[in-house]
Amino acid sequence: MENKKIEIQKPEGKLGILLVGLGAVSTTFIAGVEAIKKGVRKPIGSLTQMGRIRLGKRTENKTPLVKEFVPLANPNDIVYTAWDPFPDNGYEAALKSGVIPRDLLDQIKVDLSNIKPMPAVFDKNYVRNLDGRNIKNLPSKMDQALALMKDIQDFKTKNGLNRMVMIWCASTEAYCTIQDSHKSLKKFEEGLKNNDPNIAPSQIYAYAAMKSGIGYANGAPNLTIDCPALIELAELAKVPLSGKDFKTGQTLMKTMVAPGLKARYLGIRGWFSTNILGNRDGEVLDDPANFKTKEESKLGVLDTILQPHLYPDLYGDICHKVKINYYPPRGDNKEGWDNIDIVGWLGLPMQIKIDFLCRDSILAAPLVLDLVLFMDLAHRAGLKGIQEWLSFYFKSPMVKEGLYPEHNLFIQEMKLMNTLRYLMGEEQITHLGMDYYQS
Ligand SMILES: NC(=O)c1ccc[n+]([C@@H]2O[C@H](COP(=O)([O-])OP(=O)(O)OC[C@H]3O[C@@H](n4cnc5c(N)ncnc54)[C@H](O)[C@@H]3O)[C@@H](O)[C@H]2O)c1
Repeated sequence: MENKKIEIQKPEGKLGILLVGLGAVSTTFIAGVEAIKKGVRKPIGSLTQMGRIRLGKRTENKTPLVKEFVPLANPNDIVYTAWDPFPDNGYEAALKSGVIPRDLLDQIKVDLSNIKPMPAVFDKNYVRNLDGRNIKNLPSKMDQALALMKDIQDFKTKNGLNRMVMIWCASTEAYCTIQDSHKSLKKFEEGLKNNDPNIAPSQIYAYAAMKSGIGYANGAPNLTIDCPALIELAELAKVPLSGKDFKTGQTLMKTMVAPGLKARYLGIRGWFSTNILGNRDGEVLDDPANFKTKEESKLGVLDTILQPHLYPDLYGDICHKVKINYYPPRGDNKEGWDNIDIVGWLGLPMQIKIDFLCRDSILAAPLVLDLVLFMDLAHRAGLKGIQEWLSFYFKSPMVKEGLYPEHNLFIQEMKLMNTLRYLMGEEQITHLGMDYYQS
């Protein structure tokens, strides 16, 4: 299917990145971008920087770099700011996170030290295990939103920015579901004025971003923008949204392995996943209310990949368990174990064991870079509301009401690539390939 190229504004001038949270993921993201700019590291793990896209027939050998095919902002034009309830600057926060090797950290010390977090909109009811003091003490949630909008405007003016993207890289908030104040923009704004306890800090940031004409990406499993009120605002403000929860580590593995087992019609009786991690994220997730948010996000993936309602003999009775254990000695170097009990021909059982010794923020940082660049592209291309084509990056992808999310990593990748082809007016690739044999 060929289509007309979409009108996309050029990525001129500087792109401001508003990071909510200046912890392990944010500082590792900044460190990586600065190291790439200085040419001392390669952007490994980033589709926008290293990926290529096939165009046309296999015989044409046309595989440009993604960043040369679509008009993306150049990492050299990125400027950052952040909010955090702890006053540590980027360098101090990175040191505490313990992710970036010391030799590299010293090379980018100045760049990181220059990032001093602005006072955060913080509510201990949503993150009980943290006690930061760098916060906005204002009477109402609407006052907090207005203060965030002022921060955004000041950042823009001071740095002469053309465009901005906000991304949540802050702690996972306590579990919450859609309440009355989340059901329409009108109710949400009343809730902000009346200090409705159901409005989470992340929603105040998202509101402030959209009211400032900026798109919002959600790297954590918080409800945040996944509610009618804020989706309504995105449509009105004509800004893109994406979320939720960066797909890294164990869930990344799960969404790679499960589609393979399904493709071969191997049954699954049980999938037991457990992790140890010792960073601040792990500390926050040690609270059952915050873990519940993460658990929901992690448990969701198997159902839509395996479709047990369509394949009851294979997947109708899976025991799926996910555990996260806060274990400080490991810091950011998470270890995730999976035991998968599978069933083959004649109903005979087999087992698969995965032991992934990963680095949480090293897997997440390139996703932050890709997301901010693609969100900026989406905005310039006039795409508004939920960006389902960015599901590739999320554990719990946002979709329009009535649709089920696509979790299969390979379908997600195809969707992303086909969206880029669509934007640029290129032919979609269906992998049919009959024409090669019809001479
Ligand atoms: N692989 C990964 O690292 C990965 C994968 C998926 C999701 N995530 C999510 O990304 C987020 C960041 O992870 P991290 O490892 O950097 O965590 P972190 O604890 O190192 O950093 C989070 C920062 O957010 C700050 N914060 C908390 N509430 C805030 C608020 N209301 N406003 C501004 N800042 C606030 C904290 O003080 C902290 O500095 C977490 O929610 C985590 O669950 C991470």
